[in-house]
Order: sequence, then C-alpha cells, then structure tokens
Amino acid sequence: MAIEGRKILVGVTGGVAAYKTLEVVRLLGAAGARCQAVLTRSATELIRPESFEALTGRRAVWDLWTSDREARPSDAFAPETKPIHIDIAQSADLFLVAPATANILAKMAAGIADDLLTTAYLAATCPVVVAPAMNSFMWAHKTTERNLARLREDGVRIIDPEEGDLACGYRGKGRLASPERIVAVVREMLDRPGDLAGRRILVTAGRTEEAIDPIRVLTNRSSGKMGVALAGECARRGAEVVFVAGVLSVAPPAGVRVIEATTARAMAEAVLREGPACDAVLMAAAVGDYRPREFSGEKMKRSGPIRIELEPTEDILETLAARRGSIRVLAGFALETGSPEARGLEKMKRKKLDLIVVNRPDVPGGGIGREKTEAILLGRDGYREEIPLASKASIAARIADRVAAMLEPRGEDSAQANSRRE
Ligand code: CTP
Repeated sequence: MAIEGRKILVGVTGGVAAYKTLEVVRLLGAAGARCQAVLTRSATELIRPESFEALTGRRAVWDLWTSDREARPSDAFAPETKPIHIDIAQSADLFLVAPATANILAKMAAGIADDLLTTAYLAATCPVVVAPAMNSFMWAHKTTERNLARLREDGVRIIDPEEGDLACGYRGKGRLASPERIVAVVREMLDRPGDLAGRRILVTAGRTEEAIDPIRVLTNRSSGKMGVALAGECARRGAEVVFVAGVLSVAPPAGVRVIEATTARAMAEAVLREGPACDAVLMAAAVGDYRPREFSGEKMKRSGPIRIELEPTEDILETLAARRGSIRVLAGFALETGSPEARGLEKMKRKKLDLIVVNRPDVPGGGIGREKTEAILLGRDGYREEIPLASKASIAARIADRVAAMLEPRGEDSAQANSRRE
C-alpha cells in the first residue's frame, strides 16, 4: 500500500533541524499522507506549531493536558473517544520522530512518558521510525549508542544521521537525514506488509501452577518473557495472535487476543480448542509435567515429613501433533541441561514438531527469568541456527523469521503441506 491516505504521526523534538521536518511533512502531504504533528515543549521553542498546522491542515498538539473535548483539536486523528495520546497513537499507521534528540532517544529507550510525544510512543502499536540529529560527540556517546541499540531491539527503525557541517559549528556525523531519505524510509515501512500478515498464530507463554492446597502451588521459574516477546513480534509483523497466557511475570504484549490458562489442564483445553485453526502454534510456555494427584481443600498443616503424590499432566504438543488441523508449523521449546542439542532433537522427533528452540537455564549473562538468553533453532527439515547471547526480543525476531519462512509459499493447501511433511 502506498503512502496515500495513510495516517502518519510526526513527532518533532527540540533540535535545530526541526525546521527540516516541515519539508518532510510537505513531501508526505504531497504524496497523499495525512500527517498529525506532535511536538515536545522544547520543539515549540524552536519552531512554531502553526507552521506544522499550515502544512498538515491539522492542529499541532504538544500538551498532554489538553484532554477536554473543547480544547482538543477537533481534527486530530480520531478525536474525542479516548485520551489524546491514545487517540493520536492508536489511529496512526506510522509514527515518525524527526528530528529525534539524544534526550528523546533516552526517554523512549527507558519508557519515560512525561509529555504528549513520549506517552504517544508508549501507546503506539504501529511501526515507529526515528531520525536522530545531534552533535557528533553526542551521537558517538556510549549512552546514545546503548539507547539506540535498545530501540532497535524494541523494533524501532533508526534512520542514521548524515556526515556534514553541524549547527553547533562542528563537522561530523549528526545531521538529520535528508527529507527525501526520511520519506523514502517511511514509504518503505508502509509498503512492507508484515511477513506474517494474514497468518493466525497461537503462542503460549509463562508457567503453569498446580494447586497443592488453597495456598501452595507447584510451579517453575519461567517468567514468560520469551513467549511475550514472540507473541508481540508476531503481532507487529501482521499476524493475528492468540496468546494463551500461563502465569506471567511481565505484561502481555499489545495487539493480541489473550486467553488465560494457568494450569496444564486449562492450557491444554485452550490450545487444543484454538490451535487446530491456526497456521502456527508456538509453545513457549513452561507447562508443568506433574500435578498433585489430590488437592487438599484445607490448608495442609505442618506435621513432620509428608508425601505428595504427583501424576503426569497431559502433553499438549503431543496431543496437538496428532490432530494438526491447519497447523503448518508446530514449534516447541526445550530448556535443557546436559547436552541440550541432542535432547532437543530427540524431543522434536518424539513430539512430531517442525521446529524446536533449544536453550539452557543457566547461560552466563542470561537464561531463565533473565532479559537475555542464547538459543539453537532446530528444524525437522534439518535447519540449524545458533543464536548467541541476545535479548529475548531479538531471539523472538529470529524465531519469527524462521516461522515466516516455513509458512511460505503462501496459499499452499495445508493438506498438501501435511502430506508432504509425512
Ligand atoms: N509441553 C507441552 N505439554 C506438557 C509439557 C510440555 O506441550 N505437558 C511443551 C512445552 O510447552 C515445550 C515442550 O513441550 O514447548 C517441551 O517442554 P519440556 O518440559 O521440555 O518437555 P517434556 O516433554 O516435559 O520433556 P522432559 O521430560 O525433558 O521434561
């Protein structure tokens, strides 16, 4: 889809290059886009919002507290229904921040939301593009580098600044990319249909809990971060995501349908009901292998050693493998000690999976419950990819890449795919 008719939220921050954003907005408008400018307070010191209003034909906004209907611009995207930062963010097809100062990059990377632009960033689920501009020393600073790396991991597209004379009198890297280049990237981002568009994907995440008595549970240390990252990544890439959530230590991602299932039985029920109608099922949840055979309705009292008899839970993947429906990619996760790869391969075969993500609980610098981990992707087709220590978000992106590749070619009849698989 072209730029024409698309809604672009243009964030302007307090860099001298803000005047060049007027040209970006003019070019976007000429290509048929509908732009809404959102400025920071510092930006309003450098450039008058009226300039953006003249070019966009919409009231420029910068005040988070302009939330009453009278004061709110009547022509902001989807006005009046929700708080303004949600309105403008949720109705945009793309959020462009240009120029992006070192300060806004830091705030976006850290999730600081103290004005209209930053709250809109957190409320946006559309693609986000930032075009930084700053002094070359600020650009090269380790802090800026770190913030950019984090934003990239969060899926933000960065348009690197150019080399040249800078407003501060120095020469170096830091000039805002040209308006033509910015518009070209916006066009590319809008043209790119998510590679998972039109796919329905079920992702499970988190841990299950099996009650022993009204107070105690049998559970494990999974935080759900991997599954949440994977579900969010699939949703951002256009998939319709059914998110089956066990107990999570983090919030579920935006843009997915959440089904809560905190016991192995509830998760089996949800996955077996929803899974067969999906193109892919990605079982990132750490499902307990055992549950207490009996549940004590009364709190168990301390009285010396006790025995709790456990019975195995249903194996969700194995059951699903036997009735695949339209599923073309059935993926499992294996958290293994010892020799993870061999065990992962064995597990993939035993559970009749197409893909298995193998990792270890005790990676130096990462692992279960931590921000980072390492993984090996193994495919039934012989595919093998080693992913060294990386954030769970970037591992999720690699898994989604593989799932997207396995779901190609499009339109293939699932029966054909299944028969070829045998
Ligand atoms: N899994 C499942 N149902 C279960 C247990 C696990 O579907 N009752 C899924 C997990 O979501 C994961 C994969 O199977 O994707 C591997 O989980 P794991 O606990 O490592 O497998 P087990 O079959 O329990 O093997 P092990 O004997 O090593 O515990």
